Amino acid sequence: MLNPKTVPDYLLQSDAVRARFERLKAREPILEVRNLTKRFATPQGEHTALADISFTTHRREFVCVIGPSGCGKSTLIRILAGLETPTSGEVCVKGQAVRGPGADRGMVFQGYTLFPWLTVKKNVMFGLRMNGQGAAQAEREALQWLDLVGLEKFADAYPHQLSGGMKQRVAIARALANRPGILLMDEPFGALDAQTRSKMQAHLLDIWRNVDVTILFITHDLDEAIFLADRILVLKAHPGEVQELIEVPVPRPRSYAQFNSPEFLATRARLDALIHPPVEDEADDEANDETQVRPHMIRLTDVNDSVE
Ligand SMILES: Nc1ncnc2c1ncn2[C@@H]1O[C@H](COP(=O)(O)OP(=O)(O)OP(=O)(O)O)[C@@H](O)[C@H]1O
Ligand SMILES: [Mg+2]
Repeated sequence: MLNPKTVPDYLLQSDAVRARFERLKAREPILEVRNLTKRFATPQGEHTALADISFTTHRREFVCVIGPSGCGKSTLIRILAGLETPTSGEVCVKGQAVRGPGADRGMVFQGYTLFPWLTVKKNVMFGLRMNGQGAAQAEREALQWLDLVGLEKFADAYPHQLSGGMKQRVAIARALANRPGILLMDEPFGALDAQTRSKMQAHLLDIWRNVDVTILFITHDLDEAIFLADRILVLKAHPGEVQELIEVPVPRPRSYAQFNSPEFLATRARLDALIHPPVEDEADDEANDETQVRPHMIRLTDVNDSVE
């Protein structure tokens, strides 16, 4: 249990952190989301996945989106990518309304989405060639991006010869090769083991430091969000609404040593309170929350043979 007396308020920022946020907010907006609502028709009637979502991200900002399962995180990112149309509201990237997929937005998903029949290098070259670049130039650029993600030695390997972390590094190189203004990442490290995942987090921050790109990163993991983000967009479910847009008070550059810092713990406590609020009437709450549905438990052991 955290002692509230020793954990500062997450709203407290050091002078350096406050000055950094002021510099960030002075940068031009890259992504503007205004009053975004998405309703799906389902056999049970209309379902509101997202309700009146508005936020703006600035150039080279790192924003994480967090919220319970089913709160509309993937729906949001699919709308931003232009893969889904909103019911109402507007999305602009660099001042242009999003009408469909475009090279100004790169995507990285949780599942490995490389073309299995192409080498690593050809996977990264694919988007460049689609955009009309000549083979020699596309190859040179692909090798540079592979160098950035530390995989130049694997340029001629095929995806099945790579580990999960390596595949996601190729996916990042492929997404960045088209020089998108924004990188949209939907739980990209969700399928990785804990150790690979933390290496990938540090690696992604290194890449972000060196590339002119804004990152919108969806995660379930509170520590991952705090470690990576400038700001964290916290959504609630049923319907998916913005609860809070938190400015992370942890200074940069980030390191794992900060996980126990007062600023980190304060942000963690705030996220915990938003994501896991105390249940007032448990029975009522569970009846209304589809994520709380538990399978019916049958006892297959002797009642006297307890493990507790
Ligand atoms: N094509 C669709 N048709 C009908 N309902 C949909 C569709 N896509 C998503 N939904 C519903 O919208 C809600 C939000 O789904 P979404 O996949 O965006 O949630 P999520 O926050 O990404 O969840 P998770 O954390 O489990 O990935 C869910 O209730 C889901 O059932
Ligand atoms: Mg999802």
